[in-house]
Amino acid sequence: MREINASIPFDKKLWRHDIRASLAHVAMLADQGIVESEDATQIINGLNQIAQEYESDGVTEDLDLEDIHMHVEARLAEIIGPVAGRLHTARSRNDQVATDFRLWVRAAMDMVDGALAALQKALVDRAEEHADTIMPGFTHLQSAQPVSLGHHMMAYYEMIRRDRSRFADARKRMNESPLGAAALAGTGFPIDREKTASMLDFDNPTANSLDSVSDRDFALDYLMAATQCSLHLSRLAEEFVIWASQPFGFIKLPDSFSTGSSIMPQKRNPDAAELVRGHCGRIVGAMNALVITMKGLPLAYSKDMQDDKPPVFEAHDLLGLSIAAMTGMVAEVEFNGDRMRALAESGYSTATDFADWLVREAKLPFREAHHVTGSVVALAEEQNCGLADLTLDQFQAIDSRINADVFSVLSVDASVASRSSYGGTAPDQVRVQIAKARKTPGLES
Ligand code: ARG
Repeated sequence: MREINASIPFDKKLWRHDIRASLAHVAMLADQGIVESEDATQIINGLNQIAQEYESDGVTEDLDLEDIHMHVEARLAEIIGPVAGRLHTARSRNDQVATDFRLWVRAAMDMVDGALAALQKALVDRAEEHADTIMPGFTHLQSAQPVSLGHHMMAYYEMIRRDRSRFADARKRMNESPLGAAALAGTGFPIDREKTASMLDFDNPTANSLDSVSDRDFALDYLMAATQCSLHLSRLAEEFVIWASQPFGFIKLPDSFSTGSSIMPQKRNPDAAELVRGHCGRIVGAMNALVITMKGLPLAYSKDMQDDKPPVFEAHDLLGLSIAAMTGMVAEVEFNGDRMRALAESGYSTATDFADWLVREAKLPFREAHHVTGSVVALAEEQNCGLADLTLDQFQAIDSRINADVFSVLSVDASVASRSSYGGTAPDQVRVQIAKARKTPGLES
């Protein structure tokens, strides 16, 4: 029982928040005349001493004391004697743990936001540097149309922008104080829940005591936002793994984020990127674990809910590492612009530009233009050359309406520059989005 019951090995992480919430609670109890002010002063001094002890020596674990709440209370009793017992007036560990954990998750959300802003800044910096660098854009991982590398980086900026907004959203929704819900039904003591809420920087107290002690939406919201974020990081990691492979040769990952092989001296393995990809699986697993823990729990508190913390703690550690590793890789990766351009130029990536030209300049219906383009590509394939290497005679043999102006749209630069619709890949459009990004919170320099 001792071992299955104890949560101290993991919930000791909550100690700062536990002490902070207790300080707010006892100050409120004193203000309301529920606890004598001399007793409250002793409790406050004792709690501050415990904070110093934990800060310098860490939390000593005693499985008999079950969790962090009992550890703090037991240590308080050692320091100030039986007065310590007054701290637990008008509360329960059920509202206490709900409060502590919310405070922890809120701080975690703020940390993630700061880390994601740093990642966005790295993406925007590299995007600016490479707004004019041309790479093949893919669909089905087949060369489709040439794009700006900066544009590709900014696609990830957008994903991270949504991630930050998801965390911000969750933070807004969760910022209510469960403290004072007590075990499940509220309390008969004349407590002031508005006061403890505001002391803990919550917007207001929660409105239903049963919901207060049984709600773990805030932890699930965190895990779901973390899942989505790590999915994005995993996609970028996967691109780096592919791009770093010899057949692609688009990038050289920095030494600081690669490893060698113990038997193949020529190897540079993209381990950090692979681990970001791998961590995504574990974060999804953590999210899944808590979803299933909560499924079907009757109101109000059940001990199953003690298992809420390990998945959140694990996901947070993994997400923090993943964001930091991706930020480092994005900031330091070496792009091989020549290689990207060479591949963009092969694979008939300007075929769509050619078809568009037929519609615009030679007035062909798009379907017919598509057909003519197919014949031109087939010819180029047969001649083993690029579209721009065909002669005007060869073009005109396929369709007499083609004239020499066509060559102006066959280069990858012309193709990229022409895609200037809002959100398109034209470097000037990319720079519009970069300028906008630089004004978002955390990115202003
Ligand atoms: N260690 C518990 C947890 O983390 C604290 C709440 C215990 N409440 C109870 N009624 N046993 O969930």
